[in-house]
Amino acid sequence: MAKKVSHGARRMMTVRVKTAKKRSTSSAAWLARQLNDPYVAEARRLGYRSRAAFKLIELDDRFHVLKKGAKVVDLGAAPGGWTQIAIARGAHVVAADILPMESVPGAVVMELDFMDDAAPDLIKAKLGGKVDVVLSDMAAPTTGHAATDHLRIVAMADAAHLFATEILAPGGSFLAKVFQGGATGELLVALKRDFTTVRHAKPPASRAESAEIYVVAQGFKGRA
Ligand SMILES: C[S@@+](CC[C@H](N)C(=O)[O-])C[C@H]1O[C@@H](n2cnc3c(N)ncnc32)[C@H](O)[C@@H]1O
Repeated sequence: MAKKVSHGARRMMTVRVKTAKKRSTSSAAWLARQLNDPYVAEARRLGYRSRAAFKLIELDDRFHVLKKGAKVVDLGAAPGGWTQIAIARGAHVVAADILPMESVPGAVVMELDFMDDAAPDLIKAKLGGKVDVVLSDMAAPTTGHAATDHLRIVAMADAAHLFATEILAPGGSFLAKVFQGGATGELLVALKRDFTTVRHAKPPASRAESAEIYVVAQGFKGRA
């Protein structure tokens, strides 16, 4: 069973990173953050591929979306932390990412651009029926242009939601990364129409300075 970050790990000593001649200040800051992040250390200790694994642990401990034997689609899965947790909690997983991802024992891994028109059907072909959970931690690399980044995030959450409505069995769950204040108005209206409960959560493992939060929609009502 997946573990949380211990108090001991949180109390780890702070590591200072000198700015080497060839290392820019921003990459030194990134490295210092990695070295001083108890989630990074604990992920390494437990063999999780990403610190993001703890976000799913914390979200699932609260909302209980991953049931033993559940069929799960994990969108934006690389490098595979969420897939590892879903498998550890007894789910059957089809994981997809635009980047190559090392296989996770027990999971089907697909390399595809989910925003490509053909992608949803390619995933459906691997599933052979309805699923219980659609997870999406998809995030495109930021461009630095706030309006563009926002539009891309909204488009990904919308696409993941549309896919979820096509593939979820009644009673199923949709858990997706959204940003800044939660699901946008239109998506929130659609989620409330399609699911019995819709909540937002920022798991402790999500960095405070990050604008990401997650929307957790449960009790899919079935296709209209
Ligand atoms: C925050 S990471 C996911 C981390 C993952 N949940 C884990 O636990 O290891 C976001 C992922 O979304 C993927 N992504 C971005 N755009 C995508 C797209 N159009 N189709 C599929 N995956 C995409 C990125 O390649 C990246 O691996």
